[in-house]
Amino acid sequence: MTADPRHPHAGLFVTFEGGDGAGKTTQAGLLEAWLRAAGRAVVRTREPGGTEVGVLIRDIVLHHRGDVAPRAEALLYAADRAHHVETVVRPALARGDIVIQDRYLDSSVAYQGAGRVLGRDEVRDLSLWATQGLLPDLTVLLDLDPSAARERRDADDKPFDRLESEQDDFHAKVRAEFLTLADAEPDRFLVLDARRPAEELSRAVQARIATLLTPAGDVGAAG
Ligand code: TYD
Repeated sequence: MTADPRHPHAGLFVTFEGGDGAGKTTQAGLLEAWLRAAGRAVVRTREPGGTEVGVLIRDIVLHHRGDVAPRAEALLYAADRAHHVETVVRPALARGDIVIQDRYLDSSVAYQGAGRVLGRDEVRDLSLWATQGLLPDLTVLLDLDPSAARERRDADDKPFDRLESEQDDFHAKVRAEFLTLADAEPDRFLVLDARRPAEELSRAVQARIATLLTPAGDVGAAG
């Protein structure tokens, strides 16, 4: 461990963000396959629900019928994140693995902060406290208009979870918040138009990741 808790790792921490139906899981899968084919050690995970405790929390936040107070909801996501980072993400990064994760703290800022009654800074600070300041090395934002996202979700046969059933104006606020976050941290974010073909998007992600990997074939971040 180094003195700086935000960059203690030899590995690379990559997160995928975007609205429901933007194709994060597909892109995470394509990236995982590409990295594994190149011989890299990869840990593929997600929030909420990347641990046993997280699965229990996920069940509350996504499937509880009835209201959850906004602060309680924010704390539940933060609790999931705290446990996940400490038991899965940081150990993997310390080993030098590449962590590919569906959703992280930007989702909390976008969903709990922008869409609801809490402020973006307090939601972000809560997650930073929960994770001792761990930020991704790269965050891929798959940007998609909420009406296009709804069409994609309608095409799926799965029943909607609590957040997926929210109105389109909520999703529009979430989308705008993700774009604001990306603007504020251009070095961390790669913003892609999620309507582009999956293979093309994946090549764009690969090109960016390639700049972050050590050239020698060693696992880990360059620089
Ligand atoms: P999930 O089915 O995992 O994902 P996806 O929509 O990415 O396929 O649902 C996760 C839901 O949880 C999604 O609607 C966004 C929401 N969420 C938050 O509101 N806050 C958070 O911090 C995270 C990680 C997710």
